[in-house]
Order: sequence, then C-alpha cells, then structure tokens
Amino acid sequence: MNTKPTLDELFERRITYPDFDPQARLARLIGLDDQKSRLAKILGLLVNPAGLAAWARQHHPDADALLDTVLRRPPLVVLAGDVGSGKTELAETIGDAVARQEKIDITLLPLSLSTRGQGRVGEMTQLISAAFDYTVAEASKLKSASGKARGAVILLVDEADALAQSREAAQMHHEDKAGVNAFIRGIDRIANAKLPAAVLMCTNRISALDPAVRRRAADVLTFARPGDEQRRFVLAARLQPIGLARQQIDALVAATGPQRGGRDYGFTFSDLTQRLLPAIVLDAYPSKPIDGARAVEIARTMVPTPPFRDGEAAA
Ligand SMILES: Nc1ncnc2c1ncn2[C@@H]1O[C@H](COP(=O)(O)OP(=O)(O)OP(=O)(O)O)[C@@H](O)[C@H]1O
Ligand SMILES: [Mg+2]
Repeated sequence: MNTKPTLDELFERRITYPDFDPQARLARLIGLDDQKSRLAKILGLLVNPAGLAAWARQHHPDADALLDTVLRRPPLVVLAGDVGSGKTELAETIGDAVARQEKIDITLLPLSLSTRGQGRVGEMTQLISAAFDYTVAEASKLKSASGKARGAVILLVDEADALAQSREAAQMHHEDKAGVNAFIRGIDRIANAKLPAAVLMCTNRISALDPAVRRRAADVLTFARPGDEQRRFVLAARLQPIGLARQQIDALVAATGPQRGGRDYGFTFSDLTQRLLPAIVLDAYPSKPIDGARAVEIARTMVPTPPFRDGEAAA
C-alpha cells in the first residue's frame, strides 16, 4: 500500500543544463531581469560558496561573520505572483544560466503538486518526503569535500498552492500539516548537509504560504502582469516584422491593457503569447495575410484571464 513512488512517478521529466532549449526560453522572458539575476546569484552560491569568499578576499577581508550569515540561508526561493507571468518558465530555465556561469551540470527535478498528491491520505506527505529523498541522494553524489561542487540539483515544487493553502488556520487538516512539515524537514536537511541543491517553489498565493516556509525562504521573487511597455515589447517583436504599423501596435497595446470604466487589469504574458497572437495568426490562415485592423478587433473582443487575487479564498 505505502510503496514509495519511483523516480519516474515523482518527476515528469528531468531537465539537464546547459542546453540550448532552456537557454533560448530564458532569453525570451521579458521584464524579469531582476528576478533572473537574484535567482542566478542565489543558486550560484549554493553550488559554489567559495565564490563569495573569493569576492570577500578582494573587497572585504574581515567579512567572515557577514559571509556566514549569507551562506547559512536555507536553500529555498519562492516565486510568487499572478497567473501566466513567467514563474514556471523562469524556474525551468534559470538552471541553464547557472550551469554556464559556474561551468557545471545542473539537473532540475520538477514536481507538480496540482496533478499529484490528491486523494489518498498520506499521499502528499509521502510525495514530498520522497522528492526530498531523491534530491538529497542526487546532491550528495555531487558534493565535493572542499570547494566547488561537481554539479547541482534543483528541486522544483510547482503549483505549490496545494501545500501553501494547507495550514490556513480554519480548515487546517492534519494530513496537510504533515505535508508542510515534510517540506520544512526537507529544506532543513539540505541546508544542514550543505548540499549543492536548491528548492524553488512556485505559488499564486504568497499570503497563504505557511509562515514557517516563508521564514525559510532566502528570497521571495514576485511576478506581475506586463505593463504597457512590456506588452508593447511582446507584440512589436512579433508583429512589426510582418509589417504592422506603429499605430496598430499602439492600438493593440491599449486593447490589451486595463480598460477605463471596464476591467482594471490587462492581459497576462500568457494571454498574449498563447491566446492573442495565435488567434491573430489563425484568423488569417490559410487564405489571407494578417491585417492590423482585424488584429486590433480580435484583441478588443478577447477577455484576459482574471487576476489571481491573492488573499481571497481559493475557488
Ligand atoms: N515574462 C514573460 N516574458 C515573456 N513571456 C512570458 C513571460 N511570462 C510568461 N510568458 C509566457 O507565458 C507562458 C506561461 O508562463 P508560465 O507558465 O511561466 O506562467 P506561470 O507564472 O507559471 O503561471 P501559473 O501561475 O498559471 O502557473 C510562457 O510559456 C511564456 O510563453
Ligand atoms: Mg506555473
């Protein structure tokens, strides 16, 4: 009954970096430079703590106590924010930047809680414990006695809302609490053993995150919907080359933004790339070329994904 999940059951696909595909996907992300750089630094230090020591020798020779404070942070980063804003995309591709920067191989183990761990009692706890067991085992092989690790592992806990919601006071369920505890234990195991491993957690609901989990996060990166300039960038990069005029791009930027007297939110990045742009192409295909005025019309009639209002009860 209580058989431990196998590696294949736990993680849909392992991703190994460096690789061309994640490199290109990372480069395509817009407006996330700050998140990219913070995440790459945190992950880089977990792999190569000696890097920070080398920096300190140069600039701050007496920084031992300070460095210790930085290096002792638990290996957890939370990616939180609105739907379709690049959390999963960044989590699945940042390993490439770190692998290149540190010149080592990095493996991503992606665990999605939304599709797993529903149903049987104890399943969530077992999943989380097993995921950490594998992560610790893999990372232990990569740790080197001194200095830089030979490689690193990133455990991605995507769609972590299932876990995040779990301790909300009123409906706290014994089993859910056990899931959170297993998660916390896992983070602490990696930290105490100083393994070259990190945990990335993606959630729409930062407010529902367990305080004990949030306290451990070395950083909480927030993600939001694109503003006018970012929507312009996404749209212009794809529609200018096919001849849309500046005014038509302007009209598209306006049509995909918040509407005065209407909705107070605009399109998400994924609304633009996965819905609007394909709709514009398929509207013209196969018999006519894309027409700017028609593209604006399509944008005006399309309804963006409603925001995930953090703090409200989950649907
Ligand atoms: N910052 C961005 N720049 C460019 N494209 C983006 C960006 N964010 C998201 N996208 C596009 O939207 C798609 C969905 O993004 P992603 O899966 O990372 O969203 P998410 O934040 O994980 O959302 P959810 O909370 O619904 O899981 C991506 O594959 C990409 O095409
Ligand atoms: Mg996601």
